[in-house]
Amino acid sequence: MDKRIFLSSPHMSGHEQEYITDAFNTNWIAPLGPNVDAFEKETAAYVGVNGALALSSGTAAIHLALKLVGVSVGDEVFCSSLTFAASANPIMYEHAIPVFIDSEPESWNMSPIALRRAFQDAAQRKRLPKAVIVVNLYGQSADYAPLLEICNEYDVPIIEDAAESMGAKYKGKNSGTLGRFGIFSFNGNKVITTSGGGMLLSNDVKALAKARFWATQARDPAPYYQHSEVGYNYRMSNIAAAIGRGQLKVLDERVEARRMVFQRYYDALSPLAGIRFMPEAGFGRSNRWLTVMLVDTDKTGKTPAQLMEELARENIEARPVWKPMHLQPIFSECRYYRHGDESISDELFIKGLCLPSGSNLTLEEQQRVIGVLRR
Ligand SMILES: Cc1ncc(COP(=O)(O)O)c(C=O)c1O
Repeated sequence: MDKRIFLSSPHMSGHEQEYITDAFNTNWIAPLGPNVDAFEKETAAYVGVNGALALSSGTAAIHLALKLVGVSVGDEVFCSSLTFAASANPIMYEHAIPVFIDSEPESWNMSPIALRRAFQDAAQRKRLPKAVIVVNLYGQSADYAPLLEICNEYDVPIIEDAAESMGAKYKGKNSGTLGRFGIFSFNGNKVITTSGGGMLLSNDVKALAKARFWATQARDPAPYYQHSEVGYNYRMSNIAAAIGRGQLKVLDERVEARRMVFQRYYDALSPLAGIRFMPEAGFGRSNRWLTVMLVDTDKTGKTPAQLMEELARENIEARPVWKPMHLQPIFSECRYYRHGDESISDELFIKGLCLPSGSNLTLEEQQRVIGVLRR
């Protein structure tokens, strides 16, 4: 059997070990320490925000962002439907109510048309959402200008779920900086990783200080253990941050490598009848976290699931596109606002296939994937 080709596996730079060794030598083996502080500063400087908070996951970052904007029991929160469940689950942690918004075809991200309709409806019901979680899917930024215009009109903050889009741009601005709060994920499959981890970003350093307090078990400033609020154990460890610092050094290279992977798939496969790729919207620059292909079964004679099986037979990992949240059993009672007559996210789910896209994918490995798909 040929060597396994993964969808997106960790890609170390070599610098990580220096920071890890330093942490061991100084015995900073804890959910705080100099690497954590430095990783926060370096990430904030990289994207151009006033502050950042390193956390145990991207999901934890979304949860704290929701708390910072005051989401609580019974509040509504708008959220992109076409995403991973981690975008929406933190809404449930606060016993709030998700309302899902469809994608638009240009970027596959939140449709301003659907968002406008959802707001008009909410205004009529006299129940505006507390926040809007906008996801940047597969490394591509959503179209923030119209989304911000609508949200500003109703004075509702955006939480930018940039878990998949670190290193991407929107109109020259870095992904993660477009909302009141932005979040990154450093899960093992992301563009850069800390093995597991996340980051909360904002220009509002006062809010970040509050999030830091909650993330560190909400310890009151007292000479003994005193707590006036519910806290969480959400901080990133000094070892994970060591990995992150080594990874941040090569983020730009990793983005370029992923974009090259996309380009090679595009050149080899887009001439085939019935194959299209996730477009890159003119307003931004994607990090091409995952290359996503759309399969027209009438023209190719294959469903995406059949292609995935054939790749699996060759020891190649591919994945379906996220199943939209409004189709999930857990969210079946939630409202959903479509872009038009047809739901765009449903179509992308049915036709989409994510291909191996790691920055460490070799040319030879990619040729193997392409060979199976062409066959
Ligand atoms: C869009 C999106 N949001 C949130 C998350 C959650 O990040 P984490 O796995 O670090 O909790 C992920 C990835 O896992 C994601 O893809």
